[in-house]
Amino acid sequence: MKNVLVTGGAGYIGSHTCKALAAAGVQPVSFDDLSGGDEALVRWGPLVVGDLRDTARLAATIKQHAVDAVIHFAGRIAVGESVAAPWLHYGANVAGSLSLLEAMRQGGARHLVFSSSAAVYGLPDVPWVSEEMPLQPISPYGRTKLMIEQALRDYAAASEQRAIALRYFNAAGADPDGETGELHEPETHLIPLALAALDGGKPLTVFGDDYDTPDGTCIRDYVHVTDLADAHVRALAALESGDAPAALNVGSGRGYSVREVLTVIEQVVGRAVPICMGQRRAGDPARLVADARRIRQALDWTPAHSTLPEIVASAWAWHRGGAKATRGQVEAA
Ligand SMILES: NC(=O)c1ccc[n+]([C@@H]2O[C@H](COP(=O)([O-])OP(=O)(O)OC[C@H]3O[C@@H](n4cnc5c(N)ncnc54)[C@H](O)[C@@H]3O)[C@@H](O)[C@H]2O)c1
Repeated sequence: MKNVLVTGGAGYIGSHTCKALAAAGVQPVSFDDLSGGDEALVRWGPLVVGDLRDTARLAATIKQHAVDAVIHFAGRIAVGESVAAPWLHYGANVAGSLSLLEAMRQGGARHLVFSSSAAVYGLPDVPWVSEEMPLQPISPYGRTKLMIEQALRDYAAASEQRAIALRYFNAAGADPDGETGELHEPETHLIPLALAALDGGKPLTVFGDDYDTPDGTCIRDYVHVTDLADAHVRALAALESGDAPAALNVGSGRGYSVREVLTVIEQVVGRAVPICMGQRRAGDPARLVADARRIRQALDWTPAHSTLPEIVASAWAWHRGGAKATRGQVEAA
């Protein structure tokens, strides 16, 4: 069986991708320092616990498992944290990614799928954001993603390494079988925060209702994490066939406002989410929705689960079942 190294395999998107790889007949070998992930989510292959900046450990893992391809999720993910503590983001996301590229050189792994982000676009003032838009990130987090995208192009020009950067919009939802889901601590994403508020947590803060959108709240593009995982399996195949573009948006191409998300949650769960209205957050664009035509063509990818009711229903099932059980195991250990 072919092995693929998955950095951040104990995390949210990484664990869903491990499941998709296993279903495609590929063994995922997870490499994760467990700083933001959970060992309990590593269910589809071995786990090596280590920091990305340990180049020797990564290179040894690549050689030991005869890895030719890597999917690179590991890193710091919270935009606010990147402003408050940029050293954490430059350390893990830039130094860590460069360490991985060096380990791939040493270990002879040629192909890389990189978790980039819509944050590389900054504040694009267009209804749909295409890959050709200027790359003008406004946060340290977004800049770390852009720096690595640029490094990947330079490495590809000078070596056998080939990479594809997938620029995710908002990953959401959970595995339809309830085997994995979102377990971030602290949580910063809208849907899990809204579900926690419904379940007795503190009311959800809505960051501004005076934007230039139909209901005044921000509009985002939510893509089901299972569809996102599928895009990675397809991106690997495109790299192997030598036919991969450097960067692709991964989104549904459909935008929903915060209020629309809350309405769908109320329909799915049967109760209204308690909210409190807050101020706008610095750097939040009113609307951020993918022009997702290129990925559909390049990878023959169609989001099969990314309607908002399906996203919310899977996230709610995970919140009530798997997430509680997994947190319980961690607390009992
Ligand atoms: N969740 C989203 O909506 C979203 C959107 C755009 C981009 N992304 C990117 O996708 C990737 C995965 O996001 P996620 O939501 O699954 O995050 P996550 O926090 O659930 O997973 C990241 C994993 O990386 C591990 N990690 C962090 N620093 C590490 C280090 N130095 N060495 C080894 N492991 C380390 C963590 O333990 C964690 O398991 C990230 O690179 C993120 O920037 C996510």
